[in-house]
Amino acid sequence: MISSSPDHWDRSFSSTPSGDHTSRGWYQSSAAPSWLMIGDLDPSTSAVDIGAGASVWVDEALDRGWSDLTVLDWSPVALDLSQARLGARAASVTWVEVDVLTWTPPRTFGLWHDRAVLHFLLEDDDRARYGQVLRAATAPGSVVVIGGFGPSGPEMCAGLPVRRQSVADFEALFGTEFTIERTFEQSHVRPDKNTQDYLWVRALRNG
Ligand SMILES: C[S@@+](CC[C@H](N)C(=O)[O-])C[C@H]1O[C@@H](n2cnc3c(N)ncnc32)[C@H](O)[C@@H]1O
Repeated sequence: MISSSPDHWDRSFSSTPSGDHTSRGWYQSSAAPSWLMIGDLDPSTSAVDIGAGASVWVDEALDRGWSDLTVLDWSPVALDLSQARLGARAASVTWVEVDVLTWTPPRTFGLWHDRAVLHFLLEDDDRARYGQVLRAATAPGSVVVIGGFGPSGPEMCAGLPVRRQSVADFEALFGTEFTIERTFEQSHVRPDKNTQDYLWVRALRNG
């Protein structure tokens, strides 16, 4: 079975005869569901986008006046795509090429944002490690927004198996240190017009 790795994702973001990264199932031309969950958080909030890929979330954050942005992914091809798209604006963003599970956050962030990344972590140990990094990168008052395939979502993405997540899975991730404030079921329309069921959560790190 194919396993998730930087090389796998580099290939997923590379152009092929069947299209470029904007034809991939997870692609969206707007990160509207994320903004729905982020709500009225002040744009002065520091934010990290975990497994950002080549998402336009960072473009939209800059458009909205967010100025303290960190974009993290382990695929250099994906990060290059975003940097090329942003042009000169890329200089105002901190880019981190690393496996999130081995990342030592150098600071905490007011917003942790993850769309379609956590669901690739199948093993309990990896999810526990993700939870440790999440705790190291946040502080009381930090907001966490995570979106991934929900209980009725697909079992695969990008040729990889995923772990479909319920609210109970998020409760297990957050433990007593976070309070889930909001959940949202979204039907993502893929570029090929098929749909996928996402479950989004917004949680607050308790004081
Ligand atoms: C399905 S894509 C989603 C990309 C982006 N968040 C979006 O919404 O378009 C999953 C992304 O997670 C990244 N990723 C997966 N596992 C990772 C890990 N352990 N560390 C860092 N990035 C990872 C991949 O390289 C890829 O860019």
